[in-house]
Amino acid sequence: MKIFHTVSGLRDILNQDRRQGARIGFVPTMGNLHDGHLALIRQARESNDIVVCSIFVNALQFGLNEDWDRYPRTYETDCEKLREVGCDYLFYPDDVEMYPNGLDTQSRVICPTMTDVLCGASRPGHFEGVTTVVSKLFNIVQPDEAIFGIKDYQQLAVIRRMAEDLCMPVQISPAAIHREPDGLAMSSRNSYISDEERPRVTVLKQCLEWIAEQIQAGNKDFSQLEAKAKQRITEAGFGVDYVTISNSKTLDPAANDDLEITILGAMFTEAARLIDNLSVDLS
Ligand code: PAJ
Repeated sequence: MKIFHTVSGLRDILNQDRRQGARIGFVPTMGNLHDGHLALIRQARESNDIVVCSIFVNALQFGLNEDWDRYPRTYETDCEKLREVGCDYLFYPDDVEMYPNGLDTQSRVICPTMTDVLCGASRPGHFEGVTTVVSKLFNIVQPDEAIFGIKDYQQLAVIRRMAEDLCMPVQISPAAIHREPDGLAMSSRNSYISDEERPRVTVLKQCLEWIAEQIQAGNKDFSQLEAKAKQRITEAGFGVDYVTISNSKTLDPAANDDLEITILGAMFTEAARLIDNLSVDLS
């Protein structure tokens, strides 16, 4: 695996690969790689000649009181994992390489829909930071395909919309949610969960599954389903950010006749904010 710290270094080699007809797959990450990330790399490997992964903990998408400074950074072990899984190029820029003019005056990419609900409501500016850095990374790598996890459902939806709206010549592909044996969705932030809390955090997934079963059985009283799930999360000792039954494409609150529905949830442990989602196809 070749490692690049500069935009120009990565661009030079990718230009050569492209001239030889290589199809380029790309997996952007913030590092601290787990099996969920590695599954994205494997998926990119299947349908591309060259696989590029980026590791960049993007300050622009973290709020002022969020965990940018304590976000787990595990560069050496990340490199080992990427080598094992067959990544060709790692792009590992520093803040100056990505934001040479500073963060404050950085041009931004704004997706005006789907970004101020759900995670966007409790993390103002977050998706603007994501769409801006992903646009930059797309411009640097110019991939044929980019893979994003369904784990971050809203992020995937926003990036799809951005790529469509801005005619970005890249195929956005989803990857299934990777989970721990007890069902907890893998996340770099799971390391913030205490041992005492750990057995109980599966309540979030259990609530989403319960709502999915209810909907499949014909229960369309969405607000009551959301309220019951929230109550169960509170009773398990966690703070609720949201539990929302949404239209899978628009992320608007689901209507009674919607056939593709996604149930999204976010809750707070003592030190972590955990998210999960589950889609139901009623067609
Ligand atoms: P990060 O949280 O590191 O995630 C990188 C990619 O891995 C995202 O597409 C995310 O959805 C996916 N992923 C994380 N956990 C997963 C799991 N358990 N199963 C499947 N996929 C999973 O998401 C980001 O970084 C950043 O916002 C980024 C897109 C890199 C922009 O900075």
